[in-house]
Amino acid sequence: MAIDFTKYIASVPDYPEKGVIFRDISPLMADGEAFHAATDQIVKYAKDKGVEMIVGPEARGFIVGCPVAYELGVGFAPARKEGKLPRATVKASYDLEYGTSSLYLHKDAIKPGQRVLVTDDLLATGGTIGATIKLVEDLGGVVVGTAFLIELEALHGRDQLKGYDVFSLMTY
Ligand code: PRP
Ligand code: ADE
Repeated sequence: MAIDFTKYIASVPDYPEKGVIFRDISPLMADGEAFHAATDQIVKYAKDKGVEMIVGPEARGFIVGCPVAYELGVGFAPARKEGKLPRATVKASYDLEYGTSSLYLHKDAIKPGQRVLVTDDLLATGGTIGATIKLVEDLGGVVVGTAFLIELEALHGRDQLKGYDVFSLMTY
């Protein structure tokens, strides 16, 4: 029987600020069977795309991207926040549902022409994933898909992703 993944998402009103409903993936990660099944859904989505590399933004993008990379037998490159990567980087800035930030990728993380899947736990305004895509493309990578556990439809993140393939396991 198909799993209702929304059972494993904790919705927390007014976190981290008033008016935001925080969608917490911790219960999903804590359940081995559900986490594995969610990962399998993204693997299935990615399977026929010729993915050579996965890039996910800090921090929750790592949680989603790494097990998918392991299953596909491809590499994973972390897009990190300020001051975390020790070698030469490219940078992209973006707006969040609550604040602004920048992401960085090592310059040698992606080879020109490499086919990249971008992963994160959640698509809200699309700022984070837009910045991650920009980093990949600045290095000459080809974004062949984007995959999320959760999409917050009211925030229209998909509008930032016109021309890109988008997969989300759950929508709110
Ligand atoms: C959250 C979430 C996504 C992003 C989605 O990360 O994990 O990366 O926000 O929002 P957006 O579509 O409006 O950009 P956050 O910046 O809170 O960082 P964290 O993963 O380190 O908690
Ligand atoms: N990142 C941005 N908006 C979020 C939300 N509502 N819940 C969890 N993570 C988020």
